[in-house]
Amino acid sequence: MRKQIVAGNWKMNKTAEEAVALTSEIVNMVADEVTGSVEVVLCVPFIYLPALQRYVGGRISVGAQNCHQKASGAYTGEISAPMLKSLSVPYVILGHSERRQYFGETDALLAEKVDIALANGLKPIFCCGESLEQRQNEDYLAIIRDQVTNSLFHLPAEQFGQVVIAYEPIWAIGTGLTASADQAQEVHAAIRSHIASKYGAEVADNTTIQYGGSVNAANAAELFACPDVDGGLVGGASLKSRDFVDIIKAIR
Ligand code: G3P
Repeated sequence: MRKQIVAGNWKMNKTAEEAVALTSEIVNMVADEVTGSVEVVLCVPFIYLPALQRYVGGRISVGAQNCHQKASGAYTGEISAPMLKSLSVPYVILGHSERRQYFGETDALLAEKVDIALANGLKPIFCCGESLEQRQNEDYLAIIRDQVTNSLFHLPAEQFGQVVIAYEPIWAIGTGLTASADQAQEVHAAIRSHIASKYGAEVADNTTIQYGGSVNAANAAELFACPDVDGGLVGGASLKSRDFVDIIKAIR
C-alpha cells in the first residue's frame, strides 16, 4: 500500500517563535493519529530545521523547500543536499512553481537537483502542474507528462521509487480556486499511467502522488478520497494548526 503524505509547505512564513508554536501545536494535536501508511511532513524555512526537529518524531518529520544542485562551493546564500543530509532531513520539495517562476528553475536544472537530493538520501517531493492558460488550451496533460519525463525519467527504477510527486495546478495555488476532485483525479491518473509506461505498473502503483493548490479543511476529504490522490501539499492552510490538523484528519 503506497504512502499517503500530507505535507505543509510553509514557504517564506513564520518567525522562529511562531514556527516552534505551530509545530508543537500540530504534533500535540495529531501525533497519536498519524499511523499506518500516513505520514506528515512540515516543509519549513531552512533556518528552523534543527530547532523544529526536536518537536517531531515517528511519522511526523520536518523537510526542506529546496536545495542547490551542487554539493558545495562558492554559492553564497545557498543550501546543499549534503547539508540537509547532515541534519537527517528526509524530504525536500523540488520544482515548486514559485521556484520555476521566480528563480528560473527549468526541467533540466530540476533533474540535477533531483539527482543530488537522491544521492544524499533525501526524498524529493517533485512538483509539476500547468498554468491557467495551459489548462484552457487543453494541453495540460502533455505539459505535465513532459515535466515528469524531463526531470525524473532518467532515474533508474529503484531511485524513482524514492520520489514523491505533487501535482500543483498553478491556477489553484494561493488563489482559493481548487481543482475539483474530478480534475485532480484525471491528472493524477494520467501521471500514474505515464509512470507505468516507463517503470511498469508496480512502481506506478507504489508512487505517492499528492495534490496541492488551495487544499483546506473543507475540501480535503473529497480530494483525498480520489483513488489516485495520495495526500496533499498544503500552503496557506498549513500555517494554522487547527486547519492543518483537520486536513491531516481528512486522510483516511
Ligand atoms: O506547495 C503548496 C502550494 O503551492 C499550495 O499553496 O496556499 O494554495 O495551499 P496553497
